[in-house]
Amino acid sequence: MPVAIITGASKGLGRALAEALAARGWDLVLDARTAEVLKDTAAAVASYGTRVEARVGDVTDAGHRAELVAAARQLGGCDLLVNNASALGAEPLVRLAELPLDGLRRALEVNVVAALGLVQEALPLLRGARAGAVITVSSDAAAEAYGTWGGYGASKAALDQLAAVLGVEEPRLRVWAVDPGDMATDLYAAAVPDDDGPRPGPDGVAPAFVRLLDERPASGRYAAPALLEGGR
Ligand SMILES: NC(=O)c1ccc[n+]([C@@H]2O[C@H](COP(=O)([O-])OP(=O)(O)OC[C@H]3O[C@@H](n4cnc5c(N)ncnc54)[C@H](OP(=O)(O)O)[C@@H]3O)[C@@H](O)[C@H]2O)c1
Repeated sequence: MPVAIITGASKGLGRALAEALAARGWDLVLDARTAEVLKDTAAAVASYGTRVEARVGDVTDAGHRAELVAAARQLGGCDLLVNNASALGAEPLVRLAELPLDGLRRALEVNVVAALGLVQEALPLLRGARAGAVITVSSDAAAEAYGTWGGYGASKAALDQLAAVLGVEEPRLRVWAVDPGDMATDLYAAAVPDDDGPRPGPDGVAPAFVRLLDERPASGRYAAPALLEGGR
């Protein structure tokens, strides 16, 4: 069975992806910082009948990243790494004039530095896989200039560029940066607490990621809403 590491998999998009892949027989390594929530999610995902290894930790911790890759190795390798865990830099989001620099550092550390660290740790397994792939979860805020989304958006733009260059440097792998579109999750509520407008849940977005895995288009940047409609 193929094996995926998904960071930030206890809730939101990470959990939806874990369930979508488990339903297709993938074995999984999942992480998050909050033990109880991760434990409940791992049990729910395991009910699909696949092997699930849950590791509590913070992706910024190099020892934790090594533990995730070691767990994948135990399951037989790593066919897919999903860098999904993310930090906003300020909750709620604020304008750049007020953005705490430590918040920006945290967003860069979680969204960019840790993501690359995990790629580096997993690369030997990914290169050894029959069809290795890396997904980095991007955002519309990486490409558009939305007020208050500057620090987070800058970190996601940096992550997009890492993914683009990785795709060039590792031509045997697929490297997809995916903008999932707005989703009703805790992250969105923390970012913009006053905005309770209608938006899709992450379960409706996960099929876009599955489509990438099924069709294996060229490495590059993709948007989930377009993938769901049959485009890029
Ligand atoms: N929601 C949206 O509208 C939207 C739009 C565009 C892009 N995105 C992106 O989609 C991805 C998923 O976001 P979401 O909306 O699904 O968020 P979410 O529901 O808040 O879930 C985030 C997950 O990441 C974990 N996590 C956070 N920081 C972590 C860390 N440092 N180390 C390990 N795990 C960590 C959380 O658990 P713990 O807190 O217990 O660690 C949780 O499992 C993110 O990359 C986000 O930037 C979301």
